[in-house]
Amino acid sequence: MPTTVITGANRGIGLELVRQCLNRGDFVIAGCRNPSEARDLQDLNPQKVLPVDVSDEASVERFEKALDIPIDTLINNAGSSSSNLGIPKGSAGVLEAPMDKTLDLIRVNGLSAALVTRSLLPHLSPGARVANVSSQIGSMIVGANFDDLPYAASKAVMNIITVQLATQLRAKEIVVCAFHPGWVRTDMGGKSADISVEESVTGMLKSIEQLTAENTGSFLRWDGSTHPW
Ligand SMILES: NC(=O)c1ccc[n+]([C@@H]2O[C@H](COP(=O)([O-])OP(=O)(O)OC[C@H]3O[C@@H](n4cnc5c(N)ncnc54)[C@H](OP(=O)(O)O)[C@@H]3O)[C@@H](O)[C@H]2O)c1
Repeated sequence: MPTTVITGANRGIGLELVRQCLNRGDFVIAGCRNPSEARDLQDLNPQKVLPVDVSDEASVERFEKALDIPIDTLINNAGSSSSNLGIPKGSAGVLEAPMDKTLDLIRVNGLSAALVTRSLLPHLSPGARVANVSSQIGSMIVGANFDDLPYAASKAVMNIITVQLATQLRAKEIVVCAFHPGWVRTDMGGKSADISVEESVTGMLKSIEQLTAENTGSFLRWDGSTHPW
């Protein structure tokens, strides 16, 4: 039974990742900030539900200490947005974004990929896969025209962390990739987004399953196609 760890597992893309991983027979370790309030997640009955705030080093350390089995797949999915951090619409551009909140979002969406992956490294064996749920907005080509510095910078940080982890973990035969999940109908993506959470997650899980050492350090869309950096 392969073991899959998913962060931000209580709603949106993370919750659907849990649902589909359970359906295919994985042993699922679901991380979320408040397990006792995560009713939809608890209803799915994953093997473990553990508290973790991916932006908090002490919380990630406690999460790691609660793990006692080898991990086959780690999906760094937890993420937030400028509006969630209280940055008003129209105030997130590069000429006006508040620096303190920009740094907060970089910590949640970007640095967390390094923090969680290196903390869980003792549990990742050769052949393990790490999927960082990034965004096309973290690419230079799309981010250039997206008027939200905190979000674009945070996902650009996740992207550089992805390629650096891929380089560092190549010798351990651990594959690391970043994914653009699509514009997905979740709380973050909104109701008018392009694709359903089911379509995004089905595609990402299929692509993650097919990853080999040759793909490490790639930036992929949910459907497995390559996204430019
Ligand atoms: N939806 C899209 O169109 C889209 C597009 C590109 C990329 N993405 C990325 O896809 C990922 C999932 O997004 P989503 O659409 O599912 O968003 P969502 O519905 O807003 O869910 C975000 C999840 O991340 C969790 N989270 C936020 N901050 C956290 C922290 N510090 N520690 C642990 N968990 C935290 C949330 O937990 P709480 O319930 O506790 O807040 C929630 O479970 C994110 O990384 C997002 O940036 C989404």
